[in-house]
Amino acid sequence: MKRRSQIGRMPKQKVCFIVSLCNPLLRLHSTSIFLHLDNTVRRQSGDFCLRLFFTEFIREYAMVPFVDLSALHAPLQAEFERVFREILSTSAFIGGRAVAEFESAFAQFCGVQYAVAAGSGTAALHMALTACGIGPNDDVITTAHTFAATVEAILHAGATPVFVDVDEETYNMDPQKIEAAITPRTRAILPVHLYGQCADMEAISAIARRHNLLVIEDAAQAHGARIGQRRAGSFGDMACFSFYPAKNLGAFGDAGMVVTNDADKARIARLVADHGSPDKYHHTLLGYNYRCDAIQAAVLAVKMPHLEAWNERRRRAAARYTERLRGLSAVRPPRARFDHIYHLYVIRVPQRDALKNFLAQRNIAAGLHYPVPMHLQPMMAGHPQARVGALPVAERIAGEILSLPMFPDITDAQIDEVVGAIREFFSST
Ligand SMILES: Cc1ncc(COP(=O)(O)O)c(C=O)c1O
Repeated sequence: MKRRSQIGRMPKQKVCFIVSLCNPLLRLHSTSIFLHLDNTVRRQSGDFCLRLFFTEFIREYAMVPFVDLSALHAPLQAEFERVFREILSTSAFIGGRAVAEFESAFAQFCGVQYAVAAGSGTAALHMALTACGIGPNDDVITTAHTFAATVEAILHAGATPVFVDVDEETYNMDPQKIEAAITPRTRAILPVHLYGQCADMEAISAIARRHNLLVIEDAAQAHGARIGQRRAGSFGDMACFSFYPAKNLGAFGDAGMVVTNDADKARIARLVADHGSPDKYHHTLLGYNYRCDAIQAAVLAVKMPHLEAWNERRRRAAARYTERLRGLSAVRPPRARFDHIYHLYVIRVPQRDALKNFLAQRNIAAGLHYPVPMHLQPMMAGHPQARVGALPVAERIAGEILSLPMFPDITDAQIDEVVGAIREFFSST
């Protein structure tokens, strides 16, 4: 018993040091042998030290999760508990001070005047489109290489998404293709800052000004990403963020935000989120329940001061990936045209599916963002662009992109493990 508690207190660095001594040994064996060994040790050994050793061993070397937020949250636990206790003591579970405080902190962070919290990023997009007065008979120009929510929000507003193809290098909306898609029905352009890099907002804003169109940014993946000194969220008439837990700034559930410099649009977005009700039981427009929980706002307020440092750790991890992947001609690493906060680190590789399976066999989780472009999704049947060949770049990259594990606490050893496995794949094919 005494021995167990001593080892339980053994600092992680010490365990890691022991593990690192075994590094050369590790290189001689495949991951599966170690997983097998680990299971045997867990089953047969009553020795806590040995079991802890193998658990750390597997965590450090033999398994790379796609996202792991436990290390990010652990140092903030006392702060989380404090704000939970505060909310419990006031019973202000929806809206209230926690939401108002986070709204003003987030508006300041983005460099805009108004922020309106939402129940999700999807709700935020719908709120923004409605606040911009976009509805039936309106076209909204957007990208098909995005998460479904971008397009769902346009459709739920009653408008029609018109897709322009993406840039071959950044995978964001290609500004050169926008003007050909503008018709008298076009009301807005809705670019997505995909993977953590802003779309070319200078070019997009110039086109919007020329044609008198609104711009709504989908910044769900770009908290803190900049072009020059300006942050995502500060370029358009309105912008929308998601705080889904795995985002660079993530809640403990669903939450989102609309930001803008337009007081009237902010006012309408707030009404839309709360049953169109400026005063209790008075409803001036048709709204929804898109409100943000106080607990989510409080969690986000605790996490926000760390966002820049976490983004920097993602940039550093991305730089290591890119440097280690150098020389592999079949792998195209991401191209950062502007400041990139690497919500996702996405490579492009022709043998994508085979590589993903190979990584899975080595317990390395990789993702697909996104395997089917929006215009080819069954939900878009009947849309004028719902055919193969309509958006050649988006269609081509959908079969070649692969998102590698990325989170602020990813270790150098984990990155090297991933790259080592990718190199092994190419040397064996
Ligand atoms: C580009 C993009 N837009 C919108 C959303 C929707 O956000 P939420 O999941 O918070 O509704 C997401 C979330 O993944 C997203 O990645």
